Amino acid sequence: MAELKKQISPSLMCADFLNLGDELKALEKHGIEYLHIDIMDGVFVQNFTLGTDFVKKLHSATTIPLDIHLMIKDPELKLDWFDIREGDYVSVHYESCTHIQALLQNIKKKGAKTMLALNPGTPLCVLEDLLPDLDAVLIMTVNPGFAGQKLVPQTLDKITRLRKMLDESGYSHVEIECDGNVSFENAKKMNDAGANIFVAGTSSIYSKDGSFEENIAKLRDAIK
Ligand code: DX5
Ligand code: ZN
Repeated sequence: MAELKKQISPSLMCADFLNLGDELKALEKHGIEYLHIDIMDGVFVQNFTLGTDFVKKLHSATTIPLDIHLMIKDPELKLDWFDIREGDYVSVHYESCTHIQALLQNIKKKGAKTMLALNPGTPLCVLEDLLPDLDAVLIMTVNPGFAGQKLVPQTLDKITRLRKMLDESGYSHVEIECDGNVSFENAKKMNDAGANIFVAGTSSIYSKDGSFEENIAKLRDAIK
């Protein structure tokens, strides 16, 4: 079984917006694979964050593909609002839409890759009939809405069970992203459990304990 590439997806809601141009250059220089964009609507989660204009501007400012995490109600009605490009990932939450399979198909039609997001309380069994439509599964390792939360510990075992389920059912190409409290220490555990895309927020590359560049190097080392 070919090992999936280990990838880092910095959570731009944690970025220094007054210094974003320089931070983007540093991320490009370090070969960062994706930019994680949290879209929150104050309804599906209790927070507002980034939006449609930011997505468009980022696409014109960098060649790094986007990893657009939609934490919004009725995403099927809003997909066309976003500048989604080939090579981007778009993740949608299982609970956010009634006709989730149709929504995944629409994401594919836009040339993007599909990712289904599961909250800590959402069981893996909901994936069973969606596997043919998925390029990745996003395991939320905190409840979505805010940066700076603590890991929900049972999500580590959930990653292990998901990797096993995917590998044993002919879906070993499906990637696993983890999002929430991906600290250097937790990233190692998530990596051992079988995740291969790591959302990097205040717990790692935006941590004040090290420089931006030191933190990127430290996270790469943790997921080797
Ligand atoms: C949620 C966001 C944040 C992000 C922040 O969807 O993507 O939770 O992970 O990182 P931490 O948890 O390290 O502050
Ligand atoms: Zn996210």
